[in-house]
Amino acid sequence: MNGQLSLLVVHFLGLILIAGATVGAWVADGAVFKRLPGDRAGAAALAATLRAYGVAAQLGAAVLLLSGLGLLAVGKWAYWGALWLTIKLGLFVALGMFGGIVGGSSGRKLGALLAAAAAPGGSLDEAAVAKLRATRMSFHYVETVMFVAVVALAIFKIS
Ligand code: HEM
Repeated sequence: MNGQLSLLVVHFLGLILIAGATVGAWVADGAVFKRLPGDRAGAAALAATLRAYGVAAQLGAAVLLLSGLGLLAVGKWAYWGALWLTIKLGLFVALGMFGGIVGGSSGRKLGALLAAAAAPGGSLDEAAVAKLRATRMSFHYVETVMFVAVVALAIFKIS
């Protein structure tokens, strides 16, 4: 397998990792909110799964970035400056920032809320649950749209 093909395979592995984590976190969030307010222990048990998806998404992003830079380098940076690549990199950075800031902070808040609700004698802040549910669902939606746009740009290479 030549260098470019190997890098493309690694690039696709990163893509699969990040796509899996995006869908997985969305499904896991849905399962958390479905269990609330009744089954607090069941909802709290999913917190570790949610954290794992966050780590998988970060790993996927790192793999995509490194293999993407490798692909650019083996192509002697011929694509550098191309419109599709510029927009793709902008969206990639936006995805990372949005994921880190909105996804990260709402995920940490959700984790803390679930831990407090599942603790013996703990209480569940239902207003906070409703707010977080709205934030998390919009977050997954926006993140998925941006991700699909990056894939479309990579494939159709608009110029
Ligand atoms: C969410 C992030 C990303 C996704 C979903 C993604 C997706 C893809 C896909 C699907 C391809 C294959 C396109 C084809 O062969 O027709 C591709 C190729 C490529 N990607 Fe990415 N990519 C991402 C991030 C990056 C980054 C960060 C870079 C650069 C630093 C990059 C650079 C490249 C290059 C140079 C190619 C090869 C283009 C070619 O030779 O045809 N990608 N990417």
